[in-house]
Amino acid sequence: MAKLLLIDDEADVQYSFRRIFDSPEVELTTAASGEEGLKIIPKLKPDLVIMDVRMGGITGLETLRRIRQIDSKLLVILMTAYGTTQTAIEAMKLGAYDYLLKPFDVPKLKEIVAGALKTARDMKQVVSYQPLLESEDYELGIVGRSEPMQKVFKLIGQLAGSDATALITGESGTGKELVARAIYHHSQRNGKPFLAINCAAIPEQLLESELFGHEKGAFTGAATQRIGRFEQCHGGTIFLDEIGDMTPATQTKILRVLQSGTFERVGGNQPIQVDVRVIAATNKPLEQAVAARQFREDLFYRLNVVRIQIPPLRERPEDVRLLVNYFLKKFAKDQQGSPKSISSAVIKTLEKYHWPGNVRELENVIQRAVVVAKGDVILPGDLPPEIADPGSLASSPAQLAGGQAPVGESGGTELASVARMLFRWARQDPKLKVIPAVERELIIHALSETKGNQVHAAKLLGITRATLRKRVEKFAITRELNIK
Ligand SMILES: Nc1ncnc2c1ncn2[C@@H]1O[C@H](COP(=O)(O)OP(=O)(O)OP(=O)(O)O)[C@@H](O)[C@H]1O
Ligand SMILES: [Mg+2]
Repeated sequence: MAKLLLIDDEADVQYSFRRIFDSPEVELTTAASGEEGLKIIPKLKPDLVIMDVRMGGITGLETLRRIRQIDSKLLVILMTAYGTTQTAIEAMKLGAYDYLLKPFDVPKLKEIVAGALKTARDMKQVVSYQPLLESEDYELGIVGRSEPMQKVFKLIGQLAGSDATALITGESGTGKELVARAIYHHSQRNGKPFLAINCAAIPEQLLESELFGHEKGAFTGAATQRIGRFEQCHGGTIFLDEIGDMTPATQTKILRVLQSGTFERVGGNQPIQVDVRVIAATNKPLEQAVAARQFREDLFYRLNVVRIQIPPLRERPEDVRLLVNYFLKKFAKDQQGSPKSISSAVIKTLEKYHWPGNVRELENVIQRAVVVAKGDVILPGDLPPEIADPGSLASSPAQLAGGQAPVGESGGTELASVARMLFRWARQDPKLKVIPAVERELIIHALSETKGNQVHAAKLLGITRATLRKRVEKFAITRELNIK
């Protein structure tokens, strides 16, 4: 359960927070002044503080300054009424996590709080590498005994004593974020903030401002000054995820920050000095992006000082058994039961599978199997069909619609048999229009693979972004995937 502390002297704000955060996952405590809040914090140890700027007694800003002395990592969101944004900007410089304008928009508030709570968890939950699998307690960690994973662990250890930039590469689901967090937890900066920014999830034009902030009027829509993540994270660690997705201007700025620790806000000309450690990750081969002149070569070399390459799961089948046991323990703990066991036939099958989604996919398969298994032992029948019997093809259109069709690798024979299967379905189900059905499915798949990034999805599909947009509209995919 997440502990949230609201510091606000207005009774109706306290009341609406109680209503908004009336959920079993959140425990809300309220304080009516900065002084009261400061007294509560050491005892309560909240995960997140949301505080008004203007209160009777000491101001929100002063309270924040004092909070920073007690705990430099505690996340604080400031709330301010219209007209006092300058104060909130000061607050961001003091390392506030975000600020909200009153009256606030409830969905937006919930979204910001959820993001902050994730950041708080990232900072708190220590990721151990080489966790003790034999111990009874489940402990968050990076599991793996294979040689390439041992190499990863060694590098994390070597990085612990330094502030060097690290570049983590690996396919989707191999554990890049986990490794980034482990580096942070074992570094000298573990007492300072850790902020993760997914560069692919933020629209290109906004990323530069998100990272470096902007001055008032820097571009249309920049109504007030904004403090960026680098400034806010002074002293801490920034994790730039999906680093391949940046405009040339942003790349140039990142390079300069890495070289000299300075940057200017968008539209500003005053250099700002920060001390931030950067950890970057990507699932795309940056070397290729460099060759195609999409990614600055000098930035690539600057990031590549220490490279941690996480191998795909299919190249380390010896880790599968360990991971399975680890996830069984994890899900047992989630459900407060004792872990299920797994038949050795299942382990063998899992070791042979090619895991396009890597460890994340394995985790999902185990989670599903724990739910599906009728007894205490997970059996082959509890695995999804494409894993239990990769030779067989799905036998119903429903499986196609559910995204379960085992298209497999792009080998010609596999594609031919998928085509045969589709026509067999079309004969069984006259309503099934093969091409639109496949097209729609491919688009949904590409978008979910790329987390809704249309540029990347279009590339993956081999069509232009404009065509993709038209198709998304035509097939009414927007609503389904909840993307814009
Ligand atoms: N070696 C590992 N041991 C334990 N859990 C792991 C390991 N590798 C990955 N995981 C788990 O798999 C999931 C995916 O990991 P993570 O988000 O770090 O991958 P990623 O490489 O960042 O993927 P993406 O490129 O899709 O963002 C997480 O739930 C993570 O905890
Ligand atoms: Mg990731």
